[in-house]
Amino acid sequence: MFASGWPITLLLFCLFDSATSSPVSMYTPAPPLRSHISPPSPIPTIIPSLQSPSRSTPPSTPSFDSNSAETTETSENDHCPLTISPSPLVVRFGDPAKANCSTTNALIVHYIAWESPEGEPLYDQPNVWSVNSMTKWDVTPLCIGMLEINMCHRNLSVIVYKPPDSVSITFANHTGPMFEGRQYTLQCTVLEVAPIGNLTVTFYRGPTKLQRRQSNSTTKEPVNETFTLDINPSKVDDGGLYWCEAELDLGAEGPQPPPVVTSQNITAVVLFGPHLVCPEKMQVIEGGTLSCEVRGNPKPKLVTWFKDGQVVSLPTHSSRKHAGKYTVSVDGQKNLTLEVEVLPGSGTANCCNSHFLLAVLLIQIFICCKP
Ligand SMILES: *[C@@H]1O[C@H](CO)[C@@H](O)[C@H](O)[C@H]1NC(C)=O
Ligand SMILES: *[C@@H]1O[C@H](CO)[C@@H](O)[C@H](O)[C@H]1NC(C)=O
Ligand SMILES: *[C@@H]1O[C@H](CO)[C@@H](O)[C@H](O)[C@H]1NC(C)=O
Ligand SMILES: *[C@@H]1O[C@H](CO)[C@@H](O)[C@H](O)[C@H]1NC(C)=O
Ligand SMILES: *[C@@H]1O[C@H](CO)[C@@H](O)[C@H](O)[C@H]1NC(C)=O
Ligand SMILES: *[C@@H]1O[C@H](CO)[C@@H](O)[C@H](O)[C@H]1NC(C)=O
Ligand SMILES: *[C@@H]1O[C@H](CO)[C@@H](O)[C@H](O)[C@H]1NC(C)=O
Ligand SMILES: *[C@@H]1O[C@H](CO)[C@@H](O)[C@H](O)[C@H]1NC(C)=O
Repeated sequence: MFASGWPITLLLFCLFDSATSSPVSMYTPAPPLRSHISPPSPIPTIIPSLQSPSRSTPPSTPSFDSNSAETTETSENDHCPLTISPSPLVVRFGDPAKANCSTTNALIVHYIAWESPEGEPLYDQPNVWSVNSMTKWDVTPLCIGMLEINMCHRNLSVIVYKPPDSVSITFANHTGPMFEGRQYTLQCTVLEVAPIGNLTVTFYRGPTKLQRRQSNSTTKEPVNETFTLDINPSKVDDGGLYWCEAELDLGAEGPQPPPVVTSQNITAVVLFGPHLVCPEKMQVIEGGTLSCEVRGNPKPKLVTWFKDGQVVSLPTHSSRKHAGKYTVSVDGQKNLTLEVEVLPGSGTANCCNSHFLLAVLLIQIFICCKP
């Protein structure tokens, strides 16, 4: 049927192909874009330093500008010549943790101290803040640098995390089978997780990722949260497994790989049909078999075909008298109709016709694709 259109398509394809493969390039390479306007790069002030060469943390802050050392108050600013490592400090609730504060300019920092309601500096290393067991969710230890006439500080950003106690998936306000074409809501409930802002919940159907969800909350304490996804199940989803996964992404300083907790599986039962698998208006070639399956969930048990009010079986060898309107009764519940047209012509003629077309096709390939 469709084969008669092929040679033309092929011809077009060949024409297009020869056009693009012609040696005359259609593209003129544009000169690479480059901005010639660039701001003058700031020249860093290099202050000779007596830092110990063993310092492992590279100075991430510009050198301290002593002109700004006017106030006597502790201030956190970009000029404070202190660096904390690691930053942020990522620690699991209940675990021990340590952070190291060092100066990028030992000339002007006389000594380093920590100030924190939780944990304390190590006795032999006063620049190292340490806690045996992190039991607070919201702590910001300060590393203070004593300078010539004032002090400055840097905040240690601490992320205290806790993987979820549990992750579970359910249908919101629904139990039992679903109907094709209606909307349902999946909900993924995550219990006792912190910090919720770093949690990503992903909904899956079998191995397929459906959607990712994140919370807007910035709460540092463990919370419960329910994430939702609307679905419109279709018959292909029948028997599918839905599940969700909660991942705590705490960045490069966090645990690798990030903690992941997955839910149980729930099986989707999608009711649909019954409907005919064939088109409502169907053509069959004389001598051919007329067949049309009835599908549905629940599976149809009693399928009875009628033609002109008589119970019939679908012909395996159709002739013109089989043309017309059929009705199929499915479990006595629903009637579907099928209109059948019987086309004249013998199978052999059709076969040779298609062989002829194939030959034309091959000849065209040969002619037009020759260099
Ligand atoms: C802290 O930093 C100092 C200086 O860079 C270094 O000597 C020391 O080993 C570090 N301590 C820890 C616990 O990282
Ligand atoms: C640093 O910590 C102090 C005390 O907790 C707080 O008041 C201040 O806002 C923090 N600064 C920054 C930049 O987070
Ligand atoms: C479920 O039903 C409750 C009560 O009728 C309603 O408050 C809630 O919004 C519903 N949830 C969803 C996801 O539709
Ligand atoms: C997050 O915030 C946006 C905009 O404020 C809001 O539309 C959305 O519903 C919020 N999401 C959650 C999970 O609360
Ligand atoms: C989270 O839910 C659990 C179980 O429903 C409950 O025991 C707990 O108190 C909840 N936690 C919060 C922070 O609401
Ligand atoms: C974790 O959450 C914090 C605070 O919400 C945010 O600043 C940070 O970028 C998050 N990290 C990642 C890796 O998402
Ligand atoms: C969910 O189903 C998948 C595929 O059958 C299986 O690999 C996985 O272990 C199941 N998960 C649970 C929690 O039962
Ligand atoms: C289906 O068609 C049959 C035969 O025409 C009829 O007896 C029956 O009542 C119809 N059933 C329904 C549900 O329409």
